[in-house]
Amino acid sequence: MSVVPNELTDQVALVTGASSGIGEATAEALAANGASVALAARREDELAELADRIESDGGDALVIPTDVTDESQVETMVETAHEESGRLDILVNNAGVMLLERVEDADTGDFRQMAEVNLLGLMNATHAALPIMQDQGEGHVVNLSSVAGRKAYAGSSAYNATKFGVNGFTEALRQEVTDNSRIRTTLIEPGAVDTELPDHIPSNDQQEQIQGMMESIAPLTGEDIARSILYAVTQPPHVDVNEILIRPTEQEL
Ligand SMILES: NC(=O)c1ccc[n+]([C@@H]2O[C@H](COP(=O)([O-])OP(=O)(O)OC[C@H]3O[C@@H](n4cnc5c(N)ncnc54)[C@H](OP(=O)(O)O)[C@@H]3O)[C@@H](O)[C@H]2O)c1
Repeated sequence: MSVVPNELTDQVALVTGASSGIGEATAEALAANGASVALAARREDELAELADRIESDGGDALVIPTDVTDESQVETMVETAHEESGRLDILVNNAGVMLLERVEDADTGDFRQMAEVNLLGLMNATHAALPIMQDQGEGHVVNLSSVAGRKAYAGSSAYNATKFGVNGFTEALRQEVTDNSRIRTTLIEPGAVDTELPDHIPSNDQQEQIQGMMESIAPLTGEDIARSILYAVTQPPHVDVNEILIRPTEQEL
C-alpha cells in the first residue's frame, strides 16, 4: 500500500504490538512508504517473519523483543530504535489487550494487565521517546485508543478505563508540545477491526457478543487502520491530525 511512494524516506518509526493485527499492518505500510521500522512485541518469531517480509520487499526493519509492561524493557526498546540510525521520528503506541469482563466477575490480574499494557506501556514509551524527539526538533506520537475511549459499554469497564486514559494522556501531551511546533500527536480510535484482539477475552459471554458483532457486519482490517495512520504521519509538518475516529460503515455503537 503506497499513498505517496517513499514519503517517509530517512524516517525511523517504532511500532509496538507489531507482531499481529493493526501493528503488523502499520509497520508494513510505514516501511512500504520508506520508513525504517523498529518492530516491538513479545512474540519474537512473528516479528522476525514480519521483518523478513519487509526486507524482501526492499524495506528496512529491526526486531526489538519487548514486554511493554516492563519499564526497563520499554526504555531499552526506545534506546535501541534510536541508536540504529540516530533518529526516532514516529512512535506508534499500539500494543494492547482487551480482557472484557463485568466488574463483578473480573479477575483483578486482568485489570492490572490492561492498565499496564494499554496505558502505562504507552505512557512510558512516550516518556522515553519525547526527549529524543525534542532534541531532534520533530517527532510524531501516534496512540491507539478505540471507540471505547469515547463510549463506555457494560462489560468493558476496565478496557474503557484504559482507553479513556489514553485519550486524556494524548490530549494533555498535545497541549504540552505545542510550544515545539514540530512535535505532533495523533489519537487513533477504531471501531471493530478483525484481529486477534478478541481471542484473549476471558468471559465466554463477552467473547460471543464480540464475535457475533464481527460476523454481523463487515469489520475493518488492520490495513484500514494502517492507512489512517499513514494519512496522519504524511501530512506537512504544520498539520497535526489530532484524532481519527474510524468505524466500520455498518457499526452502530
Ligand atoms: N481490533 C479491534 O477491534 C480494535 C478496536 C479498537 C482499538 N484497538 C486497539 O488496537 C491495538 C492493536 O490491537 P489489534 O486489534 O491489532 O490486536 P492484536 O492483533 O491482538 O495485537 C495486539 C498486539 O499487542 C501486543 N502486546 C500485547 N501485550 C503486550 C505486551 N505485554 N508487550 C508488548 N506487546 C504486547 C501483541 O504482541 P505480543 O502478544 O507478541 O506481545 C500484539 O502485537 C490495541 O491497542 C487495541 O486496543 C483494536
